[in-house]
Amino acid sequence: MNLQQVKDPHSYYVSGEPQMTHLALTLHVDFDTHTLCGSAKITFNRPGKTTLDSRALNISSVEDSRGKPIDFTMGEPDNLLGTALYITVPEDKKVTIKYATSPEASGVKWLDSSITGTEHPMMFTQGEAIHARSYIPCQDTPSIKFTTYVTLSKPQELRALMGASVHVYRSETTDTSYETWENTDRIPAYLVAFMVGEFKCKVLSERSNVFAIQSVIHDAAAEFDDYPDIMKKAERLLGTYPWKNSSILVMPPSFPYGGMENPCLSFVNPSVITGDKSGVTTVIHELAHSWTGNLITNATWRDFWLNEGWTVYAEYRITEEVFGTSIAELNFKLLELEFQRDVQIFRKEGRSVALSVDCTGIDPDDIFSRIPYFKGALFLIWVEQRVGRERFDPFIHKYMNTFAFASLTTEEFVHFLLEHFGEFISLDEINVWMYEDVELPDGAPIVMNSLIQEILQFATTGSLPAPDVKWGTMHQQLYLESLPRVNDVSTLEAFNERFHASTSGNAEIRYSFLMAVLESAHYHTYLDSIDEFLSIQGRMKYLKPIYGVLFKHEPERAREIFAKYRGRYHPITIGQVEPILNV
Ligand code: BES
Ligand code: ZN
Repeated sequence: MNLQQVKDPHSYYVSGEPQMTHLALTLHVDFDTHTLCGSAKITFNRPGKTTLDSRALNISSVEDSRGKPIDFTMGEPDNLLGTALYITVPEDKKVTIKYATSPEASGVKWLDSSITGTEHPMMFTQGEAIHARSYIPCQDTPSIKFTTYVTLSKPQELRALMGASVHVYRSETTDTSYETWENTDRIPAYLVAFMVGEFKCKVLSERSNVFAIQSVIHDAAAEFDDYPDIMKKAERLLGTYPWKNSSILVMPPSFPYGGMENPCLSFVNPSVITGDKSGVTTVIHELAHSWTGNLITNATWRDFWLNEGWTVYAEYRITEEVFGTSIAELNFKLLELEFQRDVQIFRKEGRSVALSVDCTGIDPDDIFSRIPYFKGALFLIWVEQRVGRERFDPFIHKYMNTFAFASLTTEEFVHFLLEHFGEFISLDEINVWMYEDVELPDGAPIVMNSLIQEILQFATTGSLPAPDVKWGTMHQQLYLESLPRVNDVSTLEAFNERFHASTSGNAEIRYSFLMAVLESAHYHTYLDSIDEFLSIQGRMKYLKPIYGVLFKHEPERAREIFAKYRGRYHPITIGQVEPILNV
């Protein structure tokens, strides 16, 4: 498949310049200085002048393969893009860059042993969207893919884990150990990820393990014990699993996301372990990215909906197979509520709610929302309903086969879609979904079923189901999220009495409850619970809204709590919460 070279406004790389084809990375993980230090040996597809991305990297030399220095220049540092690194690739196409990261690298989190739940410190990286350049000098654009060979050296007592298809070897000296992995299939820079800490492992199947700290590993293995079966169901929908293995790593609570689809190793937030398997949908989501995102990748961040919309669609279909249609729809409804919240915020800020919007000059973190997720998936459901599953399902396989290991733009996808379904859907209709600033086009599918209706009915009347009715996490979430924000909080209190939400170990429920009391301006009795929640959770989905409303009611208190726990949060999270608090 010959795809056009695209201009990615979030990278300094210029279309047409030599591109990376392989990255050999050797880094020492230094917990004393909070730095990664070593070299990136990069192979390009041809010699010539080219440009790499970097951010706050301390580059000591650029050399050819014989160790001879190569001239390089660096541009002016830019807040959004970082610093361009201009080099000339020599005839043998190989360049070695020696460098160290900054202790403040935006894509690296260092955790002190006091907050890891183990006796040792931890560190982990997060590349998506444009943070890989803060730990690797590279062409940090999803339109370029390369193979990798990574060696990490780290204290012997710690385990290193990497999103990679092959673990090549481990070697040891008295106090340092070396681990090497290989990605023999090409990946974009944002998927290069690793974690170092003290972890236990449980085997789920021949191709899957789960990793977590000692105190969590048991619950994690129980929560995810259906994973081998889930993989088979995913393969039925999307085709043979395109990578070698697929494991799950339970992250510390400061992990900013619910999950991250690092290759062959999904990073997941500990909040997904709810005890009732409701968080398995997140694991399904990250697994689905193995096809939609990692195999076929958005060419630029403007095409982000191709990653997330497709993945939510696949998550919906796989969840249907695993938990039934009713639960799949309930899960999707919860996403719709997040989507509606985000649409309101976008409207207030005067931003377009189109699926594909030019985001030149804007930090992808700043416009992260559920719009590409929900609207993107709903668009695909719309297509599916127009053409019927009997045509759509074979189309999914064709899509995977046609664009495997490529990066794709919205326009290329739309072209492909119309090639297949031009008699059922028109370009004009599609363009409304893609480019028009409408919440949802006329005729968009509606997410509703009798289970959702019943829960919404309880919420609008402020009543609770009979005492013998068991509500799972998602049921409680939908109830709490749809309760009218009114002055009378007796409903909330009755709910709390029944489900112990304000002290729940289930982060999803506790979050939805605390948001409901905050938005009903009846939070005073729960301030301690809010404070404690903010001390143990670091997921952005919780922190941004909670700090947002808390700041409206009690600006000083909000700032004080944030200052207290700032060190526990991820640099990306800090970057998102500080503006909310006017820090
Ligand atoms: N790839 C995303 C996380 C991400 C997006 C990181 C953009 C950085 C920039 C991941 O697959 C994701 O979508 N996570 C969701 C999970 C949910 C939809 C089940 C999350 O974290 O909320
Ligand atoms: Zn995703």
